Amino acid sequence: MILIVAHTPSPNLTRLADALHAGAVEGADDPAQISRKAPLETSADDVRAARGLALLTPENLGYMAGAMKDFFDRVYYPVLEEKQGLPFVVMIRAGHDGTGTSRAITTITTGLRWKLVQPIAVAKGAWDDAFVDDAHVLGQTLAAGIDAGVY
Ligand SMILES: Cc1cc2nc3c(=O)[nH]c(=O)nc-3n(C[C@H](O)[C@H](O)[C@H](O)COP(=O)(O)O)c2cc1C
Repeated sequence: MILIVAHTPSPNLTRLADALHAGAVEGADDPAQISRKAPLETSADDVRAARGLALLTPENLGYMAGAMKDFFDRVYYPVLEEKQGLPFVVMIRAGHDGTGTSRAITTITTGLRWKLVQPIAVAKGAWDDAFVDDAHVLGQTLAAGIDAGVY
């Protein structure tokens, strides 16, 4: 399973999640291997079952959304030993910054020893439809890379 964990409180974030999902379906050998959940609904067992993760969150108040932080809080220790090396990608939707969220996710996933396989994508500033293409490529790259054994 390749799991997209997406917090989508706005229409634009939903578009980004849809594009990540569509890209991953396109990149995967078996589209049935792609699944998507909200962070509040994602359990440690979901992460255990994942061969790769795509994370999507807005930046709010200089940090990832509380829902995404809750996800990390719940899964951190349960998956710490078992999921080292888990390939993952990140997209942050940031109205004007994104650095606090990038730093926090980097710190947490360094602790988890997960493997960031593409640079963190920050969809920053006023909305741009190009963000949707970036999300699509990111999802596709993750799934294709995993299925090709590159990641
Ligand atoms: C309470 C609140 C705090 C926010 N704080 C930040 C912030 O610290 N940095 C930032 O880049 N954007 C911030 N934003 C903007 C959000 O990132 C942006 O509204 C969100 O990603 C949704 O974007 P969208 O309107 O294109 O869907 C904040 C938005 C809200 C509502």
